[in-house]
Amino acid sequence: MENSLSKNLIILHLAVVVAFSGAIWAQQKEGFVEAWEIRHNLLQPPVKIMDTIGLKPGMVIGDVGAGRGRFTVWFADRVGDKGKVYANDILEKSLRHLEQRCERLGFTNVITCLGTVVKPNIPDKVLDIAFMINVYHHLEKPVELLKNIIPTLKPDGTLVIVEHEPVKSGYATESTSEEEMVKKADEAGYKLEKIETFLARDNIYFFKKK
Ligand SMILES: C[S@@+](CC[C@H](N)C(=O)[O-])C[C@H]1O[C@@H](n2cnc3c(N)ncnc32)[C@H](O)[C@@H]1O
Repeated sequence: MENSLSKNLIILHLAVVVAFSGAIWAQQKEGFVEAWEIRHNLLQPPVKIMDTIGLKPGMVIGDVGAGRGRFTVWFADRVGDKGKVYANDILEKSLRHLEQRCERLGFTNVITCLGTVVKPNIPDKVLDIAFMINVYHHLEKPVELLKNIIPTLKPDGTLVIVEHEPVKSGYATESTSEEEMVKKADEAGYKLEKIETFLARDNIYFFKKK
């Protein structure tokens, strides 16, 4: 009995190790992922998120607060040659890193936009989707930035925000409640379309211009 229990435990551990290594291998094989990103991408899977937001070849997406391009590279691959990614951040160093990364991967459909804390500096009326992940709780002036994203959207464009939810994530500060998110977006000129709650730590908010 004891023997078969420990045998089952060993098999279970092996299965977990194989599944985890498989996920890491799959991401590295694509050449898309830097080592630090693996942990984040397991909790915020790029393919599942792109499917959820309806990102398709030929679309134009703005990655606001793109950082070192964790999601930009997946977006560039998904939208393809006929689409575009506007990768925005306020840190020039991160954008230079992102540009080199895209060059290495052969993406020619990524345009970097150095912004200020309140302006994304993305051209007007170009985006099907303006997207933010792990960014909202870092914003110094969230309402002002959200307001200034509105002109960048096409008439039926969507603002998508992936943000840590306080109870699910256990983060008291680096998170935003649903109530607060909807209130601030409302102040900035958006109405809530829907919320997806399947991620372990985050909610995905979909907003349209009012
Ligand atoms: C935790 S990182 C997330 C980066 C990337 N989205 C990711 O998930 O890997 C937060 C990023 O937001 C950027 N950021 C902060 N305030 C910003 C603002 N007002 N406009 C654009 N980017 C901003 C930071 O410079 C940083 O690169």
